Amino acid sequence: MHPTDSARLRFRTWRAEDLPLAIALWTDGDVMRHMGGARSVAQAEERFRDECANQQKYGFQYWPIFSLETGEHAGCAGLRPFHGSLGELEIGVHIARPFWSGRYGEEAARAVMAHAWAHTSTSSLVAGHGPDNANSQALIERLGFVYTHHEPWGPHQRMHPYYRLDRPL
Ligand SMILES: CC(C)(COP(=O)(O)OP(=O)(O)OC[C@H]1O[C@@H](n2cnc3c(N)ncnc32)[C@H](O)[C@@H]1OP(=O)(O)O)[C@@H](O)C(=O)NCCC(=O)NCCS
Repeated sequence: MHPTDSARLRFRTWRAEDLPLAIALWTDGDVMRHMGGARSVAQAEERFRDECANQQKYGFQYWPIFSLETGEHAGCAGLRPFHGSLGELEIGVHIARPFWSGRYGEEAARAVMAHAWAHTSTSSLVAGHGPDNANSQALIERLGFVYTHHEPWGPHQRMHPYYRLDRPL
């Protein structure tokens, strides 16, 4: 199961043959600048395996997204357990460089949110961003998330702000 198509994006689950797409995305230092920097190929492969395992275990992952118009890989967007628990789910968006500046991140996030409310029982969604990622902060606030706290994140344990959005009534 995965989010349904949005206006410009197709969602599906990762397939084994997508590994080169995942590696290209997560080894890109610009895409990953605010998320601990470019991953090595080995780290990207590990992340890919984790995402495939999440789909098996939980029925969600950071799903790959593709341009409906051209079929080009546009990044990924999806859900994962927050702090290893299904009590709250974390939402995340990684948009490939050719798709920056077109509000694809917002479009993908809205599709993931609709999927989360319809197909999971989570009572709220959590989102965080790197301390200097003003574009991500703007997106999270546009989506209606409310700041809750800072906590250490990633290999360098930098303090990242976190936000929450409750399930609509
Ligand atoms: C940050 C992001 C989610 C924003 O998506 P969005 O709200 O739909 O906005 P857009 O893609 O239209 O981008 C907004 C601006 O951010 C810029 N931008 C996006 N990612 C950037 C990055 N890693 N470094 C520098 N600039 C970036 C875009 O060029 C654009 O600038 P502009 O408004 O001057 O044209 C999306 O661009 C993205 O996924 N970026 C890379 C990965 C990332 O940082 N994810 C968030 C993790 S918390």
